[in-house]
Amino acid sequence: MSALRLEGVSKSFGGLRAVSDITLSTPVGKITGLIGPNGAGKTTVINLITGTLSLTDGRVCLGDSDLTTAEPDAIARHGISRTFQNIRLLAEATVLDNVMIGFHRHEKASFVSGLLGLGAARRETADIRAKSAELLQRFGLLRYADMPAGNLSYGHQRRVEMARAVATDPKILLLDEPVAGMNDVEAGELGDLYQELAASGIGLLMIEHNVRFVTRMCEHVYVMASGRMISEGRPGAVMQDPKVVAAYLGDKHAQG
Ligand SMILES: Nc1ncnc2c1ncn2[C@@H]1O[C@H](COP(=O)(O)OP(=O)(O)OP(=O)(O)O)[C@@H](O)[C@H]1O
Ligand SMILES: [Mg+2]
Repeated sequence: MSALRLEGVSKSFGGLRAVSDITLSTPVGKITGLIGPNGAGKTTVINLITGTLSLTDGRVCLGDSDLTTAEPDAIARHGISRTFQNIRLLAEATVLDNVMIGFHRHEKASFVSGLLGLGAARRETADIRAKSAELLQRFGLLRYADMPAGNLSYGHQRRVEMARAVATDPKILLLDEPVAGMNDVEAGELGDLYQELAASGIGLLMIEHNVRFVTRMCEHVYVMASGRMISEGRPGAVMQDPKVVAAYLGDKHAQG
């Protein structure tokens, strides 16, 4: 099993201990929640997993592979993919091109044929184009394929971002507030997609402030506050944990 595991992970920025001794695991085939008030350290945890930030302490493992000191490229090749809290698409590029970028790391012919000017790269591009179109179909985006991604609604841009992340054929998918700013219908539709992805054998780790959504999607939830893990368990139980209630007191997202 290629579960993602964090053991005693810490990160300091100068004097600020943004993440302190975090231990968690993300099994494949499930959606695991990571919640907590603003500034709790949730996005920093994702940046530590993907190698965007280096750890101050602790270990990150995927199955038998220790990724603690691996470079972002290597971590991505091991099958860890993410979406961003603030959507990052190429706004001017078409929806199809944005998704094709996700397939890039699987291109095999590009080095050699790029040098020799052979047809293999062209064939591979055609292949990637077809696979990308398939993904667009699956994500209900095919009719937008030739539109600039920046022209799409917020909810659809989120879908494009998801399609790009799934194009990398991930084992683990890290979602940073994937339904923020969406209405319940849009969120519900994306939620169905996440459940399909989990059922297909991917492990999802989802940061989300919308407690209703987390409760519906996750069997297991971790709660961070001020860089520390303050609670974990079933969503229903965790939300009644006095430590969690206290951490959320006064936080506008608490009713989510
Ligand atoms: N690159 C950085 N340099 C310095 N401080 C940082 C950096 N990244 C994050 N921090 C700090 O670390 C703390 C945790 O931030 P983080 O973005 O991980 O929180 P979060 O739980 O994702 O919050 P939110 O719910 O608002 O997205 C904050 O105090 C933040 O200012
Ligand atoms: Mg964040």
